[in-house]
Amino acid sequence: MNEFAQQKSKEFKRYTVTSALPYANGPVHIGHLAGVYVPADIYARYLRSKGRDIIFIGGSDEHGVPITIKARMENVTPQDIVDKYHYMIKESFEKFGISFDVYSRTSAAIHHETASAFFKKLFDEGKLLEKESEQFYDEVNNQFLADRYITGTCPHCSYEKAYGDQCESCGTSLSATDLIKPKSVLSGNKPVMKKTKHWYLPLQDYEPMLRKWILEGHKNDWKSNVYGQCKSWIDQGLQPRAVTRDLDWGVKVPVDGAEGKVLYVWFDAPIGYISATREWGKENNREWESYWKSNDSKLVHFIGKDNIVFHCIIFPSMLYAEGSYILPENVPANEFLNLEGDKISTSRNWAVWLHEYLEEFPGQQDVLRYVLCAAAPETKDNDFTWKDFQARNNSELLAIYGNFVNRTLVLTHKYFEGKVPGRGQLTENDNAVIEQIARYPQIIANSLESYRFREALGELMNLARLGNKYLTENEPWKIFKTDPERVKTIMNVSLQICTSLAILSEPFLPFTAEKLTNMLAIDCMKWDKAETAENILKEGHVMNQPGFLFTKIEDETIQHQIDKLVNTRKSNEDNENSKAEPFKEDIGFDDFVKLDLRIATIIEAEKVAKTKKLLKLTLDTGNDKRTVVSGIAEFYQPEEIKGRQVVLLANLQPKVIKGIESHGMILMASNSNGELAFVQPDKVINNGGLIS
Ligand code: 2FM
Ligand code: ZN
Repeated sequence: MNEFAQQKSKEFKRYTVTSALPYANGPVHIGHLAGVYVPADIYARYLRSKGRDIIFIGGSDEHGVPITIKARMENVTPQDIVDKYHYMIKESFEKFGISFDVYSRTSAAIHHETASAFFKKLFDEGKLLEKESEQFYDEVNNQFLADRYITGTCPHCSYEKAYGDQCESCGTSLSATDLIKPKSVLSGNKPVMKKTKHWYLPLQDYEPMLRKWILEGHKNDWKSNVYGQCKSWIDQGLQPRAVTRDLDWGVKVPVDGAEGKVLYVWFDAPIGYISATREWGKENNREWESYWKSNDSKLVHFIGKDNIVFHCIIFPSMLYAEGSYILPENVPANEFLNLEGDKISTSRNWAVWLHEYLEEFPGQQDVLRYVLCAAAPETKDNDFTWKDFQARNNSELLAIYGNFVNRTLVLTHKYFEGKVPGRGQLTENDNAVIEQIARYPQIIANSLESYRFREALGELMNLARLGNKYLTENEPWKIFKTDPERVKTIMNVSLQICTSLAILSEPFLPFTAEKLTNMLAIDCMKWDKAETAENILKEGHVMNQPGFLFTKIEDETIQHQIDKLVNTRKSNEDNENSKAEPFKEDIGFDDFVKLDLRIATIIEAEKVAKTKKLLKLTLDTGNDKRTVVSGIAEFYQPEEIKGRQVVLLANLQPKVIKGIESHGMILMASNSNGELAFVQPDKVINNGGLIS
């Protein structure tokens, strides 16, 4: 047994459970939930229920080039973008019952400080290589270009809009230098190669450690998809990885001569788990270091499969290089969840968004939690369909779990006024059922401890099935008149199953577990209490009135969701099929200068009576106040455009439209579907400002 394998067989005193930090440039969808947050939350809640010392960490990943690109496109700052999504994501996680002990963010000062110190320590100890290389540079914007800021033709499939790191048409990973006719996204110009200095983590130095730790130490306990990816990376030979970038958004590189450089987002983001733990320690006046530095702590990273190399190879190498940290015990990465047969895609809006689900299915968090766990992509990609969602609610949660609990509680109220009846003589079958109930906490725990969440949930449902079978076989409703004593025993045993369900459901279905504990009028209990649930509901204990745990999901509700996706698919197809208008004939510069294009501000706007499309606008042009009639009423309300700056063709001959003299024309951009949008300067320009 090597040193890493030895650690594994130890008892752990505390647990550090992390879940991938989502990028704060868009909302969270079901793919994120099924892949990472639902299993991580089940695991964290289970550990708490077992009474273990655990911290469950989440936060937003707020650096990286895509965030800067989005900010540029929306003409706002990167901080504006991450503020918007950080709070949105945080709130939807809370409402969905993801029970983070801390949800931090990588733009927080404590993170900058932590990540910076981490880098500095490696730098000071000579554990980073310094190298000069040639990288693409935009001479118009005077900046180095990250791979995402370069587009060009893919050398594999000739797609003309491939990015410098990947072709989204054929899926091949690329280097910016592979692109044919590379172009800067910023200026549209051809970038030049320019020398720049960066720091690299020499991954090859950690190969012996990685081999011993993963390939020898975790061959049998890591998921085969995770182990397989690690093995293939290590076997291909590890190379130094650049851990800095030329960019102005991120954690500044804390050494001399590194102006204009930040830490690579994949260097700083996983350190975010540590910063979040420090933040938690500060806020709760708790010691944090043992969660990361003590050998009797168990570190587990929940991630999606696209994050495996970062969490299994690169971050562990960083931790090992730093020297004072433990390595993850397990990285139970999931595969991907598809939606109605297609890959989930943020840019194509092909997703079920958590914040929308929470609004459209109020109080039904557990249905989605259930479906995403039951259909989790644990060993291979899986598909989410709305029909399956409906079927799992109606025929599993409602028909099995809800039905059993409801029958038990309603009958107990009917026959015994809601008081727990005592047990009489137990039959052989009663004893067998009681023994089975007692085994479930361990059965489910075994699956959870091995990260088999689908299996664990299946076992929980088997416990509800056991209850249904017991009731159906014993038919208390048929014998109450003739043998009420026997009915007492049947209801007592059934209530024991309800109690056990309430305890064991909590990690999976926390909202349902809470409702059920309320109905049973018991406190929330620790996991192991479920082994002897008969000690919880004592004879004579008075329960509350039963309500419904689940409600039927109707066909119309599901159809509405399917229709939404059909519309999305259609509009994506329209977009993909729409070809830009061909260019007009070339004109001379003399023709162009005849156009008097000016900036003006809309100061008044009103609908033109008896028309659908026309708005009467009053413009301040810097030289005069004038009226322009514009065909934009289908796209803009008068009150929303007052104060907006526009581009005006000022020397168009006046014309009377619907009895109004219109002098000039507002320039609008149009989509292939006829939708119109203003063309607007990206900073305020004096009215009358020339466009040339
Ligand atoms: O893939 C992602 O969404 C990344 N933002 C995950 C980062 S996990 C961790 F390293 F912070
Ligand atoms: Zn391609």
